Amino acid sequence: MDAFHRRISLDEAASVAQRAIERELLTSASSSAIFHDLGLMRARIAALRSAFPEQTFHAVAVKANPVLDVLREAVAAEVGLEAASLEEVELARAAGCPSDRVVFDSPAKTHDEIRQALAWGVYLNADNFDELERIAAALAATDSSSRVGLRVNPLVGGGSIDETSVAHAKSKFGVPLESDRPRIVAAFAKHAWLGGLHVHTGSQGCEIDLLAEAIRRVAELRREIIAETGREVSHVDIGGGLPTAYRSTQTPPTPAEYRTLVEQRAPDLFEPDVRLVTEFGRAIHANCGIAVSRVEYVKPAQQLAVIHLGADFLLRTVYRPESWQHEFFLLDSRGMPKSGPQRPLTIAGPLCFAGDVLARDVPLPPVEPGDWIVIRDVGAYTLSMWSRHCSRGIPAVIGCDRDRSESLRVLRPQETPADLVRFWGSSRAANC
Ligand code: LLP
Repeated sequence: MDAFHRRISLDEAASVAQRAIERELLTSASSSAIFHDLGLMRARIAALRSAFPEQTFHAVAVKANPVLDVLREAVAAEVGLEAASLEEVELARAAGCPSDRVVFDSPAKTHDEIRQALAWGVYLNADNFDELERIAAALAATDSSSRVGLRVNPLVGGGSIDETSVAHAKSKFGVPLESDRPRIVAAFAKHAWLGGLHVHTGSQGCEIDLLAEAIRRVAELRREIIAETGREVSHVDIGGGLPTAYRSTQTPPTPAEYRTLVEQRAPDLFEPDVRLVTEFGRAIHANCGIAVSRVEYVKPAQQLAVIHLGADFLLRTVYRPESWQHEFFLLDSRGMPKSGPQRPLTIAGPLCFAGDVLARDVPLPPVEPGDWIVIRDVGAYTLSMWSRHCSRGIPAVIGCDRDRSESLRVLRPQETPADLVRFWGSSRAANC
C-alpha cells in the first residue's frame, strides 16, 4: 500500500498501547500519551522524495509537528524544514537542519528577524513589498548567502475550510497576483537577489486541482518575469496543502498523483533549470500520530465518557467539529481491543466548559472507567496548537518505530504540575 494511504490500524494501536502500559508510560498518573510512528513518517518522506524530481527541495512544515526529535528524524531522512516564525527557525537549527535547508515564511518578520535570518543564510520567502525593502536594506549592510523568494496570492479562491484557505481575495498572505502583477515584475527587475516565487493555497480542504491551478498561475507569472526582465527565477516554492485522510472513507491523493497533475499544468517547472520547493506538513505527519487517553468516568445516562484530552489538544475538533473529525478505537485497561455490541458514545474532554467534547455518538463497544480511548491521525496540528486553558500538562510524546529495534522512545517527557507553575510564573527559574 502507498505510504500515503497507510494509517495506524486498531491492531497496531493496541500493540503500541500494550507496550506502553508494560513500560509504565501509560498509568493512572500518566493518563494520556501521544505516539508518533517514525517508520511511517520516514516511508512518507521517501515516497514524497521519489515522486518529485531529484533536485526538488522538500521542507517539512515545522508548525505541523515541532517536537524536536521528530524534526531530527525528518532531517535525518534528508528533508529540510519550513519555519513559520524565527522560533521555528531556531527549532530547525537545533534539529540539525543546515541553515540553507530552512525556509523561513512568516507574514510578520521584524527587521531584527530578517537580519538574523540573512546572517544565518536561511531561505527567506518575503510576504510583501515592504518586506522586500527591509531585506534590501539589510542586504546593503551585510553579505548573505540566503535565497529570497516572494510570496504571491494566486487568487484561485478557497477550499472547503475557511480558516486554512489562503488564496482568496481577502487573504492576509502574499501579494495578489492580478492587481500587483506590474509591481511583482518591477520588484524582480529591481532586486538582483530576488530569485524565487512562493505560493501556498491552503491546508486540508483544497482539492489538488485547486493547488495545481495556483501553481499554473505562478508558472505563467514566472515566464512573464523572465521575458520582461531577463532575470532568472530559479526557485519555485509550491507550498504545502496536500490533503490527508481523517476518515476510513477518504482516499487522499498521493504525492505521485499530485506531481503528475502539477507537471501537466505547469510543465516548465519540471525543466532542469528550476528548483522546486515543497512545504508539506499535514500529509507527512497527521496519520503517523495517535493519542491514547484513559477513560476516567463513564456517565451511563448521558452515554458519555470523560477522558484526559479535550480542546487543549484538539482545538479544531472541539471548536469546528463540522470540519475536523477524528476516528476512535476502544481498548481495555490492558490495551486489548474491546468487543461487544456497539453503542453511541459521547467522548468528552477534561476542561471546564460544556463544549469540551471531542465527538458525539461514536459507535463503540461498552466502555468502562480504566479503558483507553485511541484518537487516530493526531500527528499534525494538534500538539503544536496545544491550549493552556485549565493548565493541564502536555502528555509525553513517544516515538514508535517498527523498522528499528528500539520500540518505544520518549521524545518529549510529560509535563508536570511544576512545569505549569513555571509556565505561568514571573520567572522561568521559579522554585516550585
Ligand atoms: N506552507 C505554508 C506557508 C503554510 O501556511 C502551511 C500551513 C504549510 C506550508 C503546510 O501546509 P500542510 O501541508 O500542512 O497542509 N492546523 C492549523 C494550521 C493550518 C495550516 C497553516 N499553514 C490550523 O488549523 O489553524
